[in-house]
Amino acid sequence: MALQASSLLPALSVRKERRVRLGGGVRAQTTTTSPSTTVSSPDAKKTLRKGTVIITGASSGLGLATAKALAETGKWHVIMACRDFLKAERAAKSVGMNKENYSVIHLDLASLDSVRQFTDNFRRSGRPLDALVCNAAVYLPTAKEPTFTADGFELSVGTNHLGHFLLARLLLDDLKKSDYPSRRLIIVGSITGNTNTLAGNVPPKADLGDLRGLAGGLNRLNTSSMINGGEFDGAKAYKDSKVCNMLTMQEFHRRFHEETGVTFASLYPGCIATTGLFRSHIPLFRILFPPFQKYITKGFVSEEESGKRLAQVVTDPSLGKSGVYWSWNKDSASFQNQLSEEASDPEKARKLWELSEKLVGLA
Ligand SMILES: NC(=O)c1ccc[n+]([C@@H]2O[C@H](COP(=O)([O-])OP(=O)(O)OC[C@H]3O[C@@H](n4cnc5c(N)ncnc54)[C@H](OP(=O)(O)O)[C@@H]3O)[C@@H](O)[C@H]2O)c1
Repeated sequence: MALQASSLLPALSVRKERRVRLGGGVRAQTTTTSPSTTVSSPDAKKTLRKGTVIITGASSGLGLATAKALAETGKWHVIMACRDFLKAERAAKSVGMNKENYSVIHLDLASLDSVRQFTDNFRRSGRPLDALVCNAAVYLPTAKEPTFTADGFELSVGTNHLGHFLLARLLLDDLKKSDYPSRRLIIVGSITGNTNTLAGNVPPKADLGDLRGLAGGLNRLNTSSMINGGEFDGAKAYKDSKVCNMLTMQEFHRRFHEETGVTFASLYPGCIATTGLFRSHIPLFRILFPPFQKYITKGFVSEEESGKRLAQVVTDPSLGKSGVYWSWNKDSASFQNQLSEEASDPEKARKLWELSEKLVGLA
């Protein structure tokens, strides 16, 4: 298990308080030894220590861009939760992340044991948890046959939804304990799971049906490998997993926001056509997709811009509302977006939650 030595150091920082004169007025200013932090929201004055954020899949694409954006503020320590330790270290170096602003802890979302091990390793680091970003995903649009996680679930739903479901459930306790002014749990969604959009209507469409495949364990032994019980389709499995991500965020909000004060949110960061997500697509698609998104649909977003957007959802006081699915317009201004009927169905969310609890061993 790859647990970086520096992650074992507690994130406690020494505070000094002094009186400073600013524009005629006098106010208390709190500084931390490393690094100094200035936070302007009234809530944030409760503590000025460095925040700790876990980002899954921070070794490339959106996750890496978000890790970079948060790390370079100096206000966040990023835990890169990744399945390939060396790749994550190299990725952090390649974007110039400073060693003191991140750690890598091994996490393979396609194994429930690994998720539990990750949680233990994180707790052993002694750091508080202030934000969790469930970002990692696999997309297997050309797969002819399903592949499976260590626990026998179809790989896309097993990784993107069930692995994150267990992780988020376990780490909610840690978020509850944090004294950080705004604690957030973010699950990355997608337009492709939302059938109220043009992109979401490109076949095969997301459709969880009555969840009979999930109820059977998605293992292809007693049941289908697809949530709705249908024939395997890799592109649909990804879209279904994204619907699960968005439903899960809302169910977290309904069950825990009032009690815990934690903000639960999802987002569509834009079409980041250059990331590794499309790595298993046919070569022609990979060549044509970025210019198509840039010049035809104009929905293209750079990795850097998408990272800034997700970092906003982690830290920006104006994006602190819980239960929201964030999107950005052409001028990069954020707004609360509408989810499709299925992706906002509370009864489906409840059923998904209960079945997922059973599959990951929480019920
Ligand atoms: N790209 C887009 O246009 C787009 C649009 C909407 C939403 N999104 C969402 O954005 C998120 C990030 O995607 P991306 O575009 O940045 O793709 P990406 O570059 O392929 O990043 C995916 C990350 O997930 C990691 N990962 C995959 N399987 C894992 C596992 N079993 N355990 C731990 N980590 C695992 C990958 O690790 P390795 O580096 O080891 O492979 C990689 O770091 C996803 O949730 C995706 O659905 C993307």
